[in-house]
Amino acid sequence: MSPDLKEKRNISDIKTLPSQQSWPWWPLLPLYPYGKRRTVFKELIPSQLWSFEQLQGIYYVAVPVRMTVVRVNTGLMLINPLPPTKEILNDLKKLQDKYGPVKTIVLPTASGLEHKISLPALARSFPSSILWICPGQWSFPIPLPLDFLGIPRSRTNILFADGLPHKNCCDWFSLGPVDIGLGRFQEISCFHRVSKALIVTDALVGIDSEPPSLFDLDPTPLLFHSRDKGSDPLIDTPSARRKGWSRVVLFSSFLRPSELEIPPLSIVLNNAFKPGLRNFRSHFGLFPFDWKNGWEKTAKELMGYKQPIIQIAPVIERLVFPRAKDTFIDWLDDIKSIKGLNWLVSAHFNALVRFTNSDVQTLKNKINNRSWARNDGNWTFISSVDKTLLKLGVVPKKPVEKFRD
Ligand SMILES: [Fe+2]
Repeated sequence: MSPDLKEKRNISDIKTLPSQQSWPWWPLLPLYPYGKRRTVFKELIPSQLWSFEQLQGIYYVAVPVRMTVVRVNTGLMLINPLPPTKEILNDLKKLQDKYGPVKTIVLPTASGLEHKISLPALARSFPSSILWICPGQWSFPIPLPLDFLGIPRSRTNILFADGLPHKNCCDWFSLGPVDIGLGRFQEISCFHRVSKALIVTDALVGIDSEPPSLFDLDPTPLLFHSRDKGSDPLIDTPSARRKGWSRVVLFSSFLRPSELEIPPLSIVLNNAFKPGLRNFRSHFGLFPFDWKNGWEKTAKELMGYKQPIIQIAPVIERLVFPRAKDTFIDWLDDIKSIKGLNWLVSAHFNALVRFTNSDVQTLKNKINNRSWARNDGNWTFISSVDKTLLKLGVVPKKPVEKFRD
């Protein structure tokens, strides 16, 4: 195959997914790629830390979501549950054969639906495991007890209230709670002393300019968003993947970036249903996006080029912590005091990013030297969401007060 042909591989070459990757519970949270969850399994720190990554998103705005496997003295601990497809269970079986059984499953977030949705199925896959969950679990529209949510109460402990798991090799830190109206935001991070890695959920992410390797399995989301109009074909080239990835990063950071316009319906329809694009994979050529000049500049500010940029995701800053910056800074101070901190492993974007005590201080300085939870530019849309919720009384003006003693 010529290099040209190799580069311009059309997406129709991609093979059908095997049954090992099916996830039958996807209608509970119908996110792309729905019932077909391909997984990338990686060893992050030899014999200590592993990750399973899947894609998750809306309208091809897909980012990696990660479960981390931690070696503990008595076996394995799973943090941030993922849908337990056969593919994942097969790889976990290999780890268990070598390092011991899955002893513990941790759901470290109170609000992250994408992380909690697969806890019941994962718990059923490991019936002897003990579950540890973040305090303040909530459900909407009506509050339901844990058993109704599929979380077996008889083998479930609440982090901090019932103690902490594996204290001989892990330290635990709470970010929050913060009142977000419908419930609380809180997440519990785990520092695993042997691997020197801090495992978080949504608190921090490290974003790189290179698309995650997960997209090598199917780059469709990147190719879809790399285009300028719906009539453009989905052509697979390294630069198309990078362009698409930059836009996915912008979408996931700001939901509706300021350089993005929604074209009139007549233009969207005019560009749709062109030959070669009349299929579900291309969304029939329906592409309601028009990127204005300058979008690349904002994307570059979010992504690292030699190593990932560690940051609080703008959407978390503006919608969870707009009036609780001190809570976030308190947590940074907590993790800054960790002896031997060397790595960050978060549940989204890059795994295993270098993260030392001085990196925490640099991040804190950066945050303190810029405006927090801005209202302008790319922040305009998420800011308007928060302002509306505040006006309607859905979110409180003082989000931390009710949790104070
Ligand atoms: Fe998340």
